Amino acid sequence: MPASPPQLHGPAFEADPHPAYRWLREHAPVHRVDLPGGAWAWLVTRYEDARRVLADPGMLKDPMAGHEVWRRAGLGLPHDHRPSLVHSMVNTDGPDHARLRRVAGGAFTPRRVRSLVEGAERVTAGLLDRIADSGEADLVRDLAYPLPIAVICDILGVPEADRPEFHRRAAVIDSSSPEELAAVAETTDWFDSYLSALVDSRLAAPCDDLLGDLVESHRAGELSRDEVTSAAFLLLVAGHETTVALLGNMLFTLLRRPGRLERLRADRELLGPAVEEALRLESPLQNATWRFPREATTVGGVELTAGEPVLVSLLAAGRDPERYEDPDAFVPDRGASHLSFGHGAHFCVGAQLARMEARVAVGAVLDRLPGLRLAVDESELRWWPSMIMHGLFALPVRFDRPGPAGCSGR
Ligand code: HEM
Repeated sequence: MPASPPQLHGPAFEADPHPAYRWLREHAPVHRVDLPGGAWAWLVTRYEDARRVLADPGMLKDPMAGHEVWRRAGLGLPHDHRPSLVHSMVNTDGPDHARLRRVAGGAFTPRRVRSLVEGAERVTAGLLDRIADSGEADLVRDLAYPLPIAVICDILGVPEADRPEFHRRAAVIDSSSPEELAAVAETTDWFDSYLSALVDSRLAAPCDDLLGDLVESHRAGELSRDEVTSAAFLLLVAGHETTVALLGNMLFTLLRRPGRLERLRADRELLGPAVEEALRLESPLQNATWRFPREATTVGGVELTAGEPVLVSLLAAGRDPERYEDPDAFVPDRGASHLSFGHGAHFCVGAQLARMEARVAVGAVLDRLPGLRLAVDESELRWWPSMIMHGLFALPVRFDRPGPAGCSGR
């Protein structure tokens, strides 16, 4: 265990951030971290502190509540905080937040999500058809990445013809490495104009999709036009890369524990609990989104002043030994709740959708890819260099190819 605070960036941290978070939970549970652009934030790593901060209405989400150094550093997304993309529920508090959440949240009720299962199964089957005969694949590129974007495009109502460009652009927006900020800014402009044109088309001709519903709320005076485009942008950003990371992290978690993988293959009742345990163990969102104290407050014995940025580490909280017995073990039957979808007023609106996609995707992989194993050594896997996300770039695997038709496998 190192004597001083560990580095929270670089290849070693990205490959295995858990030792650093263990150190912080034990020695500096509310720790000041330096950020790009001269900014800094408080990082909260213990489960109980994390839960309290997430639920605290005095911890504001409006970026204008953040102090000036943070705002100048342009760390939120979009980086220039433009009104057409930033007026969404994740950046608002109180009654405004409740209004935005009520309007967009209707698309993700358990009933609506059930109606999306068949579509997700069809997309997954098509993706697995493409790789099943080859005996090898990259499960991030070939499955985890394309499935969630197809589902979101369906929900939003992105026309088929625009989807290849939409997919390509989403890949750039998902990139959060500092070298790629210029490309992200250019792509943000593209989404701004694209979503605006899509709203115009719905205003001209109503449509039965989420964007159509949002535009109807605009007509009824419930949402401004900026709020419609911001909601669509948020759903794309919040719902895509997170789900890619969940699918990749869950498959990786199973692949490094072949016994667990076989048990799940044999008993599909465990699939739901296994999704929850994978979420706890390898939270796709490393940190929750930014929060800023409305007034001076104390968290974990540390005094914070108004406007100081706060990051809650969901990855660290998920392995807090004060909350979970044997926290590094993968035990689907432990049935413990976690914070990986957040907690309180900003709890993830897409949680049911993400869970459904994980069950569909991992279930289909178990059905269709026998003898599944990692194709490289674990140490060769690359993780996103990101403060926010915790997910794999690629997951190369091998599996048994199907025998010739009619062969009984003797
Ligand atoms: C495994 C996948 C996902 C994970 C791990 C995840 C995680 C989270 C977390 C932790 C929050 C709370 C952020 C905070 O309080 O700072 C959140 C909020 C949110 N999530 Fe997700 N999410 C996932 C998938 C989705 C999907 C599929 C959608 C929709 C298509 C979605 C839409 C949202 C929205 C709109 C919010 C903001 C809610 C609010 O501010 O009231 N998420 N998500």
